[in-house]
Amino acid sequence: MKNFSKYVRLAVLVFLVSCGKSEDKTEIFEPTPAPMPTITLKEAANFPIGNTVSASRLSSSSENYFRTLLNKEFNSVTAGNDMKMYNFFKAPGTYDWSKGDAIVAYAKANGMRVHGHTLIWHPSYSIPDWLENFSGTDAEFEAHVEGYIKAAVAHFAEATFSDGTPVVESWDVVNEAFTSDAEAGPFHKRIGPDYVEKCFRWAREADDKVKLFYNDYNLGSDSSKADKVINMVNNFKANSVPIDGIGMQMHIDYQYPNLESLKSNVTKLADTGLLIHFSEVDMTVNKDKALSGLTLQRSNAQKERYKQMAIIYKTIPETQQFGITFWGMRDTDSWLLDFYNNPNEWPLLFDSGYNYKPALFGFLDGLTN
Ligand code: XIL
Repeated sequence: MKNFSKYVRLAVLVFLVSCGKSEDKTEIFEPTPAPMPTITLKEAANFPIGNTVSASRLSSSSENYFRTLLNKEFNSVTAGNDMKMYNFFKAPGTYDWSKGDAIVAYAKANGMRVHGHTLIWHPSYSIPDWLENFSGTDAEFEAHVEGYIKAAVAHFAEATFSDGTPVVESWDVVNEAFTSDAEAGPFHKRIGPDYVEKCFRWAREADDKVKLFYNDYNLGSDSSKADKVINMVNNFKANSVPIDGIGMQMHIDYQYPNLESLKSNVTKLADTGLLIHFSEVDMTVNKDKALSGLTLQRSNAQKERYKQMAIIYKTIPETQQFGITFWGMRDTDSWLLDFYNNPNEWPLLFDSGYNYKPALFGFLDGLTN
């Protein structure tokens, strides 16, 4: 009976919405237990589907459910933070790979690839303090960075699956270089404006197979930023600087970017011929903080947009489809809640109780469309 009245309420709401009534921001959508999808995300896609992990979550005795879901739906993992420089580069010439090793061991045991994230990223919380405050010469600073990149890439090239393919298939070599912060950051300041290309060369010297990515945000919405990345790629090609792929982070919103500009930016980035990774997907639905719960209407909008995102990804030539990686499992796991200081945000495919959201069904629909 309880369920019946829930359905009636839902039906009335759908009816009102379809009558063109303006958006009701108070009616909170309680997901009714939907039938489970008959196909998993990784089965539905012709390319890898990823999520973020941490070494602690992969070993914690209270995270069995997370691991079951990860293994069921996903076949690619990215460390949310554990493979950033501050976790590895403890002192000059001293590395602690333990968290990365634990992630690689788990991935290997469960047949998932690892996308390395990220060798170079400028924010101070991503760099070890000793390097940020380094008082030696610029040449010494550069030598430390070169040594780090080569050591990290060489170390993580060692793990292979039984058929010999590397577990760590790829690295984000440089993250978010096209910002004023990055230009004011230590790598640009101390190595020089050509630090990005140097980092790619060092990474390739350490491993001739691993796929090297440049990763950035707003590439789907900001056409001039996408052009800067394309220029960089063209310069790399002209100067024989190695690069294999572009990571479009895809931190998007239920209303933007508009799908036309997303589509045209994806197309022009793919026209470089490089691999394209939707590398950090999430979707805000409550940036103005007007909602205190996810409404049916907003949930439907998110579902539809996740569908469209999958459809747009599939327009990329198949040989360039590197994969789609979600930046978190449950809504409550998302970094965006802290980033926007908004506990009322629901950006991902699973709700706080690990239930499959309409967003997931939308994405799945786009994959199989
Ligand atoms: C975020 C992590 O999810 C947070 O836990 C951390 O506090 C900050 O970094 N772009 C990136 C990711 O490339 O590495 C960021 O990850 C999110 C934005």
